Amino acid sequence: MEAHSRAPLFQAVASETPSRRSVTLSFNGEALNVPPGISVAAALLMSGVERFRATPVSESPRAPYCMMGVCFECLVNIDGVPNRQSCLIEVVDGMQVHSQEGARDLQFDVPLVQVLEVQP
Ligand code: FES
Repeated sequence: MEAHSRAPLFQAVASETPSRRSVTLSFNGEALNVPPGISVAAALLMSGVERFRATPVSESPRAPYCMMGVCFECLVNIDGVPNRQSCLIEVVDGMQVHSQEGARDLQFDVPLVQVLEVQP
C-alpha cells in the first residue's frame, strides 16, 4: 500500500490544538489512528493515502477532489457498503474502509425485461 510512503499532502493546520483522543479505523487492512470529528477522506489523506479507488473502465487511480460531496472522486467501501462518499462521512472507531476497485456489483436483483409487442 502506498500509505506512509512519503509525507502526506494533507495535514492539520499547525495552529490547531492536537486532539488527545484518536479514532482507529482501517484502510485496506492497515490500522490508522486519526483525530475524531474529521471526515473519512480527510483521515485517509492525512494518513498518506493517495489512491481511494480505481475507475471502472480504465482503472485509473482516483482521490478526493472537491471535499464537499460534488465530484464523487472519493468513493470507497465502508463497512461493506460500496460507493460511499468519504468526504461526507465522519470517522467512527472500528470503521473498515476499503478502496473501490473497478465496477461495483449490483446490490439488487435486476427485474426481467418485459418484451412489448408493438402494433403497426
Ligand atoms: S471529494 Fe468530491 S464528492 Fe467527495
